[in-house]
Amino acid sequence: MRTIHMLLTLLALQTILLALPALAIDSIEPQRAGSSPPPVRTGVDIEPQSLSMPPLYVQSLAATCANCHGTEGRALSGATVPGLAGRSADELVAQMKAFRSGERKATIMHQIAKGFSDTQTQLLADYFAAQKR
Ligand code: HEC
Repeated sequence: MRTIHMLLTLLALQTILLALPALAIDSIEPQRAGSSPPPVRTGVDIEPQSLSMPPLYVQSLAATCANCHGTEGRALSGATVPGLAGRSADELVAQMKAFRSGERKATIMHQIAKGFSDTQTQLLADYFAAQKR
């Protein structure tokens, strides 16, 4: 009986987790006029075309850096990974591009930097530059 309960709970959790990305994408979708259903969205669709993206979009990009660089880019004291908060946006962009091109050797960032477009990299850099150290 307990095993069945556990399995059901896990199933419910999995359903919620699978639905979360869809919710996140929906919430950055601007309000549409009319009642036609929104088109199916792909990764390409959510590539930002401009630097005026909703804060939630930028925050969700920046959240992917928090595991290693600290919340809002503030590294804990004694952390081996450098903090990003309050640093010059130009410098952050330059470092990300150097990682991406392989000009700067890295243990992990050469892979991560490749996952972000120029626009996303600029959004991230502006976000971290605006955080207090
Ligand atoms: C899995 C851990 C991890 C994640 C996630 C991560 N980083 Fe890093 N980051 C590192 C490490 C480690 C370094 C040091 C260079 C190296 O060895 O890769 C670094 C270095 C950097 C540097 C250079 C800092 C300096 O002082 O020279 C920048 C800029 C940077 N990361 C930006 C980001 C951004 C932006 C994100 C999120 C999109 C991110 N990182 C996500 C681990 C991570």
